[in-house]
Amino acid sequence: APAKLWGGRFAEKTAASVEAFTASIHYDARLYKHDIAGSRAHAKMLAKQGLISAKERDQILKGLGQIEREIEAGTFVFRPELEDIHMNIEKTLVEKIGPAGEKLHTARSRNDQVALDVRLYLREECRNLIALLAGLQKAFVVLARTYQHAVMPGYTHLQRAQPVLVAHHMLAYYEMFGRDRERLSDALKRINVMPLGAAALAGTGLPIDRAFVAKELDFPKITANSMDTVGDRDFIIEFMSAASLVQIHLSRLSEELVLWTTEEFSFVTLADSFCTGSSIMPQKKNPDIPELIRGKSGRVVGNLMSLLMLLKGLPMTYNRDLQEDKEPLFDTVDTVSQSVAIMSQLLGNLQFNEARLAAGLGGGYMTATDLADYLVLKNIPFRQAHAIVGRTVAFCLSKGKELTELTLKELQKFSEVIEGDVFKVLSIEGSVASRVSPGGTSGKMVAKALKRAEKEMGIS
Ligand code: ARG
Repeated sequence: APAKLWGGRFAEKTAASVEAFTASIHYDARLYKHDIAGSRAHAKMLAKQGLISAKERDQILKGLGQIEREIEAGTFVFRPELEDIHMNIEKTLVEKIGPAGEKLHTARSRNDQVALDVRLYLREECRNLIALLAGLQKAFVVLARTYQHAVMPGYTHLQRAQPVLVAHHMLAYYEMFGRDRERLSDALKRINVMPLGAAALAGTGLPIDRAFVAKELDFPKITANSMDTVGDRDFIIEFMSAASLVQIHLSRLSEELVLWTTEEFSFVTLADSFCTGSSIMPQKKNPDIPELIRGKSGRVVGNLMSLLMLLKGLPMTYNRDLQEDKEPLFDTVDTVSQSVAIMSQLLGNLQFNEARLAAGLGGGYMTATDLADYLVLKNIPFRQAHAIVGRTVAFCLSKGKELTELTLKELQKFSEVIEGDVFKVLSIEGSVASRVSPGGTSGKMVAKALKRAEKEMGIS
């Protein structure tokens, strides 16, 4: 077995069970690219500061390049007894290039090194997720365009409430995922800070140049306090909170898709290529994608809870507990990114059934509020108008009629201010068209919202 990089003060060999228990290489190997990038920048800084020679720097850079190629080619041997990705790479470097390799860890600790690796990794993944979310928003814009004039029932309490444009419903999701994107961009500001140079916890007396390393790695700034730097995982929790909200939004959407694809609703048909069947029931076509996305919200929120609990009792500064941050983080990154990507594809592979949507508009007295507003415009106080329309609906229910099926005479029994112009108000189209308040569902307002969304997304 290779000697431990920290073995000097130890009289005994590490127990095999301890090596197995403490190793993280089976999951933190995924940070290899970021670890190597960080080491390259660190080596260049050490040379610029005269802490290593230019020749040693070049040997280090060459060795790191070889290691990177071996990892990518799958020929690199990861050794669990070397614990983690940092020591696997460093030890291999020393084996390859000798004493120059032993200088790489000058003025560096694994505590600031791991903070750097995770920040580099998460910066990349956070940007990737932001881009995926923009793709998802575009899919909603396309649906809003395709069904710009189609009307559907809008619900509260899952009871038919008021008619809305399908486009309005789609653009509601556009807004939700837009906020998610903003939240991730905001989290990115605090992820994108350079930690190297904190060393173990107190900084270093060696003449390093942190700003140089930041510039090399394209960080706009460096962390302010060395102790905070090695103990801080806030940036991970912020990302996971924002990512949890993404998954929860996806889950709400999934719930609607599952509902809408039932025989009972049949508002939406999913393409065969985006559904699966049953092993026993030959007729089945199941919406497994939205179901799985909904199901995966459990692990994403669970991962966030794991990180919060991980930090709860931790004293300053670095504690080995922090190694437990990675699996939940990686799982959240993978799960949320995959969910957003597949949902974007699914949205491009569904169809609204306009006939079914239209059929869903009857029978729910969905223009009752319009009738109340009509009375308000005839100077009836809203509370009185509400009561009048309530009685009218009760009458309709007892007769098995729609509001539009009442005669003017019948309507006038409930209020004498009602005139012939009421029927336009009671129609579904009239109701939708009347909702001209900013943010409302009228064709006019939705066209405006759609234009803005197209502009934001760079679609023409
Ligand atoms: N694998 C460790 C982690 O993920 C790296 C830092 C280890 N530092 C230490 N002092 N043991 O946190």
